[in-house]
Amino acid sequence: MELWAKAFEHNVDPIHTEISRNLNYVADMLRTYDDVPDSLSRLIREAEQATITNDFVMNQIIRPEDLFNIPVIVVDEAGFVNAYRYIDDENADMQKLVERFSALHEPITISLQDRDRVQYQYVYYGESPMIQYLRYFPYVQFGILALLLGVGYTTYKSITRSEQSNLWVGMTKEAAHQLGTPLSSIYGWLQLLKDKISKDEDTLSIAYEIENDVSRLKGIAERFNKIGSQPELTSVNPEPIIDDVISYMERRLPQLGKRIEVRKTIQTNAKAKLNPELFQWAIENLIKNSMDAIKKSVTDPYVSISVAQDGPLLIIDVKDSGTGIDKKYAKEIFKPGFSTKKRGWGLGLSLTRRIIEDYHNGRVYVYQTEVNKGTTIRIELPV
Ligand SMILES: Nc1ncnc2c1ncn2[C@@H]1O[C@H](COP(=O)(O)OP(=O)(O)OP(=O)(O)O)[C@@H](O)[C@H]1O
Ligand SMILES: [Mg+2]
Repeated sequence: MELWAKAFEHNVDPIHTEISRNLNYVADMLRTYDDVPDSLSRLIREAEQATITNDFVMNQIIRPEDLFNIPVIVVDEAGFVNAYRYIDDENADMQKLVERFSALHEPITISLQDRDRVQYQYVYYGESPMIQYLRYFPYVQFGILALLLGVGYTTYKSITRSEQSNLWVGMTKEAAHQLGTPLSSIYGWLQLLKDKISKDEDTLSIAYEIENDVSRLKGIAERFNKIGSQPELTSVNPEPIIDDVISYMERRLPQLGKRIEVRKTIQTNAKAKLNPELFQWAIENLIKNSMDAIKKSVTDPYVSISVAQDGPLLIIDVKDSGTGIDKKYAKEIFKPGFSTKKRGWGLGLSLTRRIIEDYHNGRVYVYQTEVNKGTTIRIELPV
């Protein structure tokens, strides 16, 4: 801008007009002398017209559009606008612009020798589009940085999630395999034993009990196997599965030393796409939690399982009159390892969530809970 102001100062200096006037005067004078050749006065006129430096400054510095595209206003001592450049709006209030520019930069003073006194002019200037762009650049950079961080974070998250998932799948498959082998052989031995004691009714009944437990263990191994691979879903009615869980849990109640009523309300015979073993496991985890949550002192100890249809969804509620869940834990309880129990692994609900959400495209969440009143956990499955 200083270079531009100097160039401007150079070109508007009154000295140029004065020199030109003097040269013209000399040329005119010379013509009146007969003994001076005409060519001399022509040379002087030519010299007067050859404003080479001025043209150079004008064309190379002052005018070029792309060299200094900075908005400029030149004002004289009296405050009149002498010249301006790059003021987009021709009707803009020049006074206001001058004020704005002077807040941005100290104006550059130009001094012009006019005969016997010095005149001053002031160059006010704003900012080029480039500078305005640069002003926003840090924000753009921050934006890009934030975007990169976001992408990085989600990638990292999805990598850890798939690692966790791999670990989970690996562990369960291994467990199923390890359990399966000795179980098959126990089963074989049991058949041999039954043949041997076929006469002894009492001992035989014990063998049948053992057989029951062995087949239950086989079922558990089967669950581990199922959760380790993408399970098959078939369209089934959930009621018999729920019945199985209820009767199994009711048989365990005396061991827990609790008296809990298990209720069942089925309002629909809609089928859902299910994997029976895994679905059973999920329901079992919920009922087990409900039973754990019911204190002995409760007047109406119950767990109720209800099935209803709501449009495209099958709604399965497991409701209890237990301790309820503190609001601050409502999100935590589905995380693996979260447990408030002395002997809890905190796996029941995360397993249930995995079964329902990852394998059945459903949803499981705390539908309702109140401390010391009870809890309802809801499962939604597409019918
Ligand atoms: N019906 C419920 N009533 C009250 N609290 C519950 C209920 N269901 C779950 N919770 C709370 O959520 C926690 C996590 O449950 P989750 O089934 O994942 O683990 P856990 O029961 O503690 O252990 P695990 O199921 O592995 O033996 C429980 O410790 C309990 O505090
Ligand atoms: Mg549990």
